[in-house]
Amino acid sequence: MKEIISFMFETFLTLKMLLVLFLCILTILTIVVPAMLVLLRLKYCIYKAKANPKKLKVAFFHPYCNALGGGEKVLWVAIQTLQKRYPTAEISVFTGDVEATPSEILQRVASNLNVKVDPKVKIVYLHKRSGLEAARYPILTLLGQALGSICLAFEALGQLNPDIFIDTTGFSFTLLVFKVIAGCKTASYVHYPTITTDMIEKVSSRRSMYNNRSYIAKSPFLTYGKLVYYRMFAAAYSFAGQFCDLTMVNSTFTMEHLTVLWNKPMHLIYPPCDVSHLVKLPKDEAKKANIRILSLSQFRPEKDHPLQLQALYELRELIPDQLFANVTLVMCGGCRNEDDKKLVKDLVDLSKHLSLENNVEFKVNISYQDLLKELEYAQIGIHTMIDEHFGISVVEQLAAGLMTVAHRSGGPLLDIIETSEGSRLGFLAVTPLEYAHTLKTILEMEEVAIMGIRERARASVDRFSTKKFEAEILRAVEPLFQY
Ligand SMILES: *[C@@H]1O[C@H](CO)[C@@H](O)[C@H](O)[C@H]1NC(C)=O
Ligand SMILES: *[C@@H]1O[C@H](CO)[C@@H](O)[C@H](O)[C@H]1NC(C)=O
Ligand SMILES: *[C@@H]1O[C@H](CO)[C@@H](O)[C@H](O)[C@H]1NC(C)=O
Ligand SMILES: *[C@@H]1O[C@H](CO)[C@@H](O)[C@H](O)[C@H]1NC(C)=O
Repeated sequence: MKEIISFMFETFLTLKMLLVLFLCILTILTIVVPAMLVLLRLKYCIYKAKANPKKLKVAFFHPYCNALGGGEKVLWVAIQTLQKRYPTAEISVFTGDVEATPSEILQRVASNLNVKVDPKVKIVYLHKRSGLEAARYPILTLLGQALGSICLAFEALGQLNPDIFIDTTGFSFTLLVFKVIAGCKTASYVHYPTITTDMIEKVSSRRSMYNNRSYIAKSPFLTYGKLVYYRMFAAAYSFAGQFCDLTMVNSTFTMEHLTVLWNKPMHLIYPPCDVSHLVKLPKDEAKKANIRILSLSQFRPEKDHPLQLQALYELRELIPDQLFANVTLVMCGGCRNEDDKKLVKDLVDLSKHLSLENNVEFKVNISYQDLLKELEYAQIGIHTMIDEHFGISVVEQLAAGLMTVAHRSGGPLLDIIETSEGSRLGFLAVTPLEYAHTLKTILEMEEVAIMGIRERARASVDRFSTKKFEAEILRAVEPLFQY
């Protein structure tokens, strides 16, 4: 009896402890955290009220603004456009490139990206960028980077509290900070969703691709843990997305995946992609005896060059030998390292194995001048990568007036190549045989039909021009600039 009573007493004690703990957590969640948020918000809003209210402040969040890739082109062209349209606004960029001076950055932007930004743009340096590096988080990388970006957002906010905050790198958790605490209007240009439902599906089907560690894919328990983690992260990402006043995406692929998670309207604005010089390349209208099929992509496994050789192999069965003797597949592309060189060697071997060595040319590390010549001489373009997110090389081939056959997936399918009769811009295929039949169709096409497609395709690439990007971005941000 005594034991039972003492047991009950102890249970009661533990229960009481649990209750106290529960109440503590509840207090923190319902009182302390909101109170801190309110205080922080008051602090930053008072700061903002004190600042010159006439001058509209716009800040871009782009920690790696000096990297000069496609993402940076979007950033700097957007800045240039806003500078022209809103000359009195004060535009800043938050960046972690502390080793470069503002004039160095602008100089590189002018010389490498060919974008001339007004030097009155302010560069605001951030020192905690290392928190964004994936390598710092051997496990829970997504979460680590998200928290790192929140810390960085606080560092940024400590230096400048803008009226409009625009994230151009996809660190969407920064929006939360700038919306909730700093009271800014927020916008985001998303190149790629941080997490997609595809990723979650891949984990749940236990393929060891995203799960880079195969032991996770092998253990049902760890897989389940990872799945819960991904689901929770996806929920947090959707939550952060709700603090975005204006969402812009770079492609249909990104739009489709992000819409599932954020569930809000988005503007599809293609990145600026300058192909106007290709549209002007002369194109000999008369059919040439030599038929050149141009392949234009880096020598990398995912580009699937072997498929091009297989297609050529199938084509030989479909057309007369004399005609096939005049067909040349020209593979142009860059090589970055030893692996890529090995890939080229394997391709050469494969072409010999298929007895195609007289019908294939390799142009490794071709110069831009020579590439322009190839684009001019070729009649047909070929692209074989599956699920390419966009495919700039496909746009270049269309612009240069080639009859283009691209893989029926990803960007070429969703964004670039229209194939319905009457508005056809190019062709899509999947299997070697389908590629071969398509090539045969093109070889047999009437001159007028070819010219029709060429004209339409060359006109269509205007969708991806810098001018179009500028117009679209101004239209999208307009509501944010209205006070
Ligand atoms: C959008 O961004 C992703 C990631 O950087 C890139 O792979 C894709 O090519 C981009 N799309 C366009 C239309 O440039
Ligand atoms: C898996 O790991 C390898 C080597 O560590 C890396 O090269 C590859 O990019 C990783 N793949 C993914 C999907 O993260
Ligand atoms: C192949 O090219 C040669 C000239 O290079 C030309 O004389 C011949 O007619 C071409 N053959 C076919 C079938 O087009
Ligand atoms: C191509 O250029 C890369 C670097 O620019 C270099 O490493 C590689 O060796 C070159 N490949 C060939 C085949 O010249």
